[in-house]
Amino acid sequence: MDLKAGKDAADPKAVKRTTLVEVQGVPMFSDTAEKWGPIWDFKARPDDLLICTYPKAGTTWIQEIVDMMQHGGDPQKCARAPIYVRIPFIEICPSIFSRLEEAEAMLSPRTLKSHLPVQLLPPSFWEQNCKIIYVARNAKDNAVSYFHFHRMDQEMPEPGNWDQFLDNFLTGKLSYGSWFDHVRGWWEAKDRYPILYLFYEDMKEDLAREIRKVAQFLGLELSEPVLNRIVRHTAFESMKANPMANYSTMPPHLMDHTTSPFMRKGTVGDWKEQFTVAQSERLDDICARELGGSSLTFRTQL
Ligand code: A3P
Repeated sequence: MDLKAGKDAADPKAVKRTTLVEVQGVPMFSDTAEKWGPIWDFKARPDDLLICTYPKAGTTWIQEIVDMMQHGGDPQKCARAPIYVRIPFIEICPSIFSRLEEAEAMLSPRTLKSHLPVQLLPPSFWEQNCKIIYVARNAKDNAVSYFHFHRMDQEMPEPGNWDQFLDNFLTGKLSYGSWFDHVRGWWEAKDRYPILYLFYEDMKEDLAREIRKVAQFLGLELSEPVLNRIVRHTAFESMKANPMANYSTMPPHLMDHTTSPFMRKGTVGDWKEQFTVAQSERLDDICARELGGSSLTFRTQL
């Protein structure tokens, strides 16, 4: 996730950790907040496919799966560019690498990426009835992954220590706001719009099964050999070794993989290494309160 490759990205000395500015009450990167007008006015097309997630829920994984599917399971075709070039990230709009402008210039059919909560999605996506794939990941693993990402991405806000970070996660003070609002908002929207709602844990459990769901949603036929190639190509170890998927093409002063690699662990249940018992219980309580009234449930281990 090249979250903030901004105008000073080429100059290691100029790289600064970003601040957050609220957009309709949701903390967002200051550059995104500044350019909110053009983002909100983004013109979706009816054949756009949007991949949407809370950050660190498995965005890159589903992006690579979808790109493979759209290219007949041919890894050579998916090696044409890094994943962040193949699928533009619409709400990132710093002045040099304008992802919004790249998306606007793209030929149809487009596949686009966003982390926006449902209420901040540009209205044209709803008006055009675009297909959307949403991936959700359990809050505990999601929070741990987001913490390590803040440590390695030198343009993310300062994470502080784990205790402070978790507190910010639980109170919705990180970029993109509350994880609870995000996963619940998209869960509710799926009853009204063409949204395929997937879970990271299900993908870990049986990737072939989840890939078949995506193919059916996109109306694509997948032969068994192609399906098997996609499963192999998008396994964690393959993606970790793939420079077009693992973000090693980002300049090291922006993403410091020595602090924590982008492809870090790729598991369900890693949170047990990070959470205290009290922190785990606190999160469970908040989860019960925030998601209690919905049919949305998560698995924190397999
Ligand atoms: P961890 O930090 O827990 O390892 P995003 O792409 O949304 O930024 O999410 C990154 C998270 O997804 C990281 O989680 C990364 O390791 C994990 N991930 C990426 N590709 C994966 C794959 N093929 N299989 C399992 N997990 C994957």
